[in-house]
Amino acid sequence: MIFELIKNRRAVFPAQYNDKPLSEDALKKVLEAANWAPTHRRTEPWRFKVIRGNSKLRLGEFMAHKYQEIEQRPKKVKIKKLRENPVRSAAVILICMQRDPEERLPEWEELAATAMAVQNMWLMCTAMGIGCYWSSPGLITYMDEFVQLSEGEKCLGLFYMGYYDEEPPLVGRQPIADKTLWLD
Ligand SMILES: Cc1cc2nc3c(=O)[nH]c(=O)nc-3n(C[C@H](O)[C@H](O)[C@H](O)COP(=O)(O)O)c2cc1C
Repeated sequence: MIFELIKNRRAVFPAQYNDKPLSEDALKKVLEAANWAPTHRRTEPWRFKVIRGNSKLRLGEFMAHKYQEIEQRPKKVKIKKLRENPVRSAAVILICMQRDPEERLPEWEELAATAMAVQNMWLMCTAMGIGCYWSSPGLITYMDEFVQLSEGEKCLGLFYMGYYDEEPPLVGRQPIADKTLWLD
């Protein structure tokens, strides 16, 4: 049932990933799911950079260095995490958004469409037993120094992925009734 899938989707972090590799077919399936997100004016603004193999190492090094460069008092634990998270993952997908060059719609709609593409990936991963989560550290604004971005393309985060053994705990939600107004 789609409701069960939605409810069972969890943020699964790199510390929980095992060593099982992720096939290219599995990655392509997840990306294909992203591509079916709704899109106003069909700008299809989502863009992805798939980071595997040695690039994971490069990404970790880049983030650890950048963090130390921009932070006045960098924390050791954070440096370690930034360096290790990509390597612990089977793959990392950089989540990017390509702004419509003609700006035919407000930016928020293209951010929203990209977020919907990420939800599609997240649900697809849940269905395939792949752990994942969207990470949005402050240093994503420097990601154009790691990978070339097009004019008007923005990095919105990292999508860490990996298989895992232990079920993550259910993270509850406040009641929907508190967030809904019914007008009859
Ligand atoms: C846009 C976005 C950015 C996020 N960024 C982070 C992040 O930087 N670090 C983090 O630990 N979790 C991040 N998350 C994941 C949330 O922490 C997670 O969804 C939340 O704890 C609820 O848990 P659940 O997804 O398992 O229900 C992000 C989620 C979204 C939607």
